[in-house]
Amino acid sequence: MYDRFSLKDKVAIITGGAGFLAKIHIRALLEKKAKVILIDKNLKSLKKVSNLFGNNKSLNIYKGDITNLKSLEKINNLVIKKHKKIDILINNAANDFKINKKIKIKQEKILNIKNWKKDLEVNLTGTLNCIIVFSKSMLKKKSGVILNIASDLSIIGPDQRLYSHLKILKPVSYSVTKHGLIGMTKYFATLWSDKGIRINALSPGAIENNQDITFKNKLKKLIPMKRMGKAEEIKEIVQFLCSEASSYMTGQNVVLDGGRSIW
Ligand SMILES: NC(=O)c1ccc[n+]([C@@H]2O[C@H](COP(=O)([O-])OP(=O)(O)OC[C@H]3O[C@@H](n4cnc5c(N)ncnc54)[C@H](O)[C@@H]3O)[C@@H](O)[C@H]2O)c1
Repeated sequence: MYDRFSLKDKVAIITGGAGFLAKIHIRALLEKKAKVILIDKNLKSLKKVSNLFGNNKSLNIYKGDITNLKSLEKINNLVIKKHKKIDILINNAANDFKINKKIKIKQEKILNIKNWKKDLEVNLTGTLNCIIVFSKSMLKKKSGVILNIASDLSIIGPDQRLYSHLKILKPVSYSVTKHGLIGMTKYFATLWSDKGIRINALSPGAIENNQDITFKNKLKKLIPMKRMGKAEEIKEIVQFLCSEASSYMTGQNVVLDGGRSIW
């Protein structure tokens, strides 16, 4: 029977491929038989991820910085040489801090303009760079799917009480860039609606990952479902948004937050 979720013979790029959620995106795509290409600035972590998947032949890694167009062009050339095309782009890389016991961020850094510029450079300009470079193959063959990984903070403001015991603020740059990603999603969805390219966003709330316990207890009280998300709960949504199963969907923001944003 024909499977509309199948990604057989599809070539997919995941940015921030060495990070926490990338492992779920990888599983989602490999399970549906795509060829997966990971890009990350951290080669050591990329190698660890590749090992984790048993150095699967359908998984390739490239060290690259999404803020550097030249680095992306180089990877694009190598991918096209090897696979002839690109079908899927998951813009997952971002600057964000992990809320764990070791967290130590100076308050001044969060509202500091240098940091703001750095975050915009990665989260927005870096994403735009990837769209510009990796859409070339999609535009040529008039088909492709782009998925921008945003956050519940793409539609709500941060509740700074969640971080007050750690004496930190969620940076303004995170909120602004995640809201901005939704604008970018809608922009390209309309621009390329007649070019065979669909572009959507996925906005998870905080996903369980050994966060600070006080943070977790405070957060659960803000969520109607009274729990954080689990990484594996993202997998099928990625499969849906990257496959033909979502063929009539573009410019949308799928929110996965246990209902937090509706309370
Ligand atoms: N983890 C969560 O709970 C959660 C919740 C909501 C949204 N998100 C979003 O999901 C995405 C992934 O989150 P995560 O928790 O896996 O983050 P992570 O920090 O674990 O991974 C991000 C990866 O991006 C890479 N990266 C950063 N800058 C880069 C650059 N310039 N070029 C190439 N690679 C670069 C990092 O090296 C890292 O491996 C992010 O966009 C994040 O904002 C995460």
